[in-house]
Amino acid sequence: MKKILLAVTGGIAAYKAIDLTSKLTQTGYEVRVMLTENAQQFVTPLAFQAISRNVVYTNTFLEENPHEIQHVALGDWADAIIIAPATANTIAKLSVGIADDMVTSTLLATETPTFVAPAMNVHMYNNKRTQHNMKILKDDGYHFIEPGSGYLACGYVAKGRMEEPLAIVSIIDDYFKAQQRISTSSFNGKNVLVTAGPTVEVIDPVRFVSNRSSGKMGFAIAQALMNRGANVTLVTGPTQLEDIPGAKMIHVQSAQEMFEAVKDRFEHQDMVVKAAAVSDYTPSEVLEHKLKKQDGDLSVTFKRTVDILKYLGEHKTSQFLVGFAAETKDVDAYAEQKLQKKNADVIISNNVGDQTIGFNSDDNELTMHFKDGQHIYIKKGRKSDLATRILDELETRWQ
Ligand SMILES: Cc1cc2nc3c(=O)[nH]c(=O)nc-3n(C[C@H](O)[C@H](O)[C@H](O)COP(=O)(O)O)c2cc1C
Repeated sequence: MKKILLAVTGGIAAYKAIDLTSKLTQTGYEVRVMLTENAQQFVTPLAFQAISRNVVYTNTFLEENPHEIQHVALGDWADAIIIAPATANTIAKLSVGIADDMVTSTLLATETPTFVAPAMNVHMYNNKRTQHNMKILKDDGYHFIEPGSGYLACGYVAKGRMEEPLAIVSIIDDYFKAQQRISTSSFNGKNVLVTAGPTVEVIDPVRFVSNRSSGKMGFAIAQALMNRGANVTLVTGPTQLEDIPGAKMIHVQSAQEMFEAVKDRFEHQDMVVKAAAVSDYTPSEVLEHKLKKQDGDLSVTFKRTVDILKYLGEHKTSQFLVGFAAETKDVDAYAEQKLQKKNADVIISNNVGDQTIGFNSDDNELTMHFKDGQHIYIKKGRKSDLATRILDELETRWQ
């Protein structure tokens, strides 16, 4: 049975915390509750005691068990802590490390994962200080359960309502499921480098050659690896996508830069997934000045870039190598060839000629080609779902 410590602070939504206690208990969590002094202006400890069937904590100095320090033991006892509702005041105190009551002392003395469900007047919520304080907590790893919009007790219809208890329970359920997945994953604690996006090959100060890769597939794989506890390094060409929190992000432009970024880190990796669309050619020379318009045709000479996957295949020691093959025809035959020629462990092929999937789309359709000749077809779906499927297939085979 997972153990939840619920911290209730002095907001009007404290009444919802009673329901939350009930829903958590009914779902099968063991719940203990602590309240700030001000929370008790809205709700009574007795209500929480009756519903949680546990002692409720309100006073740091009411040390009833001589064998432990209550505000330290309580945080350690919990598998997760939820602050709901979280007032602007408690969020502010937490962001600077004030510990002047039972709730804040316990929160400061713990490393247990903590969820914060803010609830307050919209101006209080939008206030620069509150936003700043929330950012500090987010950056420090607190999980925020964003408030919804709706009717607020102050009369405004705006953002600031505490998330509904059932939704909070489902977030907590998902969190524990994800934890379970991490603890059983073969990627947990492993170093994995993923490449993503296009490369950009410069012709002159204003022109370049690139391709339509959006980076979505590589980013989805990086995120899925993070979800399984891997230490992810994401080497990416220019994309419109947001950096992945927690991943080591390396931004590059050209094929040569990508090669160097990958080569420098290769030795320390357990796996490399090459999902980037690296240019095979780059202009033979980069012009110092903008190319002027002239009469007649223009030819630009290109030279080959380094074949990164081939290099990795030649230099790998124990690293598991996953490559992608993006083709417009004979996709599978080419993937088989690539598997052999590049000394990769898996090649994942997709048909980028199909406009409904591939490069710029949110969807894709893939086949995984393994070294032992096995093929696994993964039917069309969202790239995030495909990333999960790819890792499911690799989980037991890659080590
Ligand atoms: C009727 C009433 C409703 C309040 N509702 C909220 C609220 O929803 N959110 C909030 O941050 N503060 C609210 N406050 C202000 C807090 O109670 C006040 O900032 C208090 O110091 C919070 O203490 P605590 O964080 O230690 O519980 C409310 C105050 C009153 C009188």
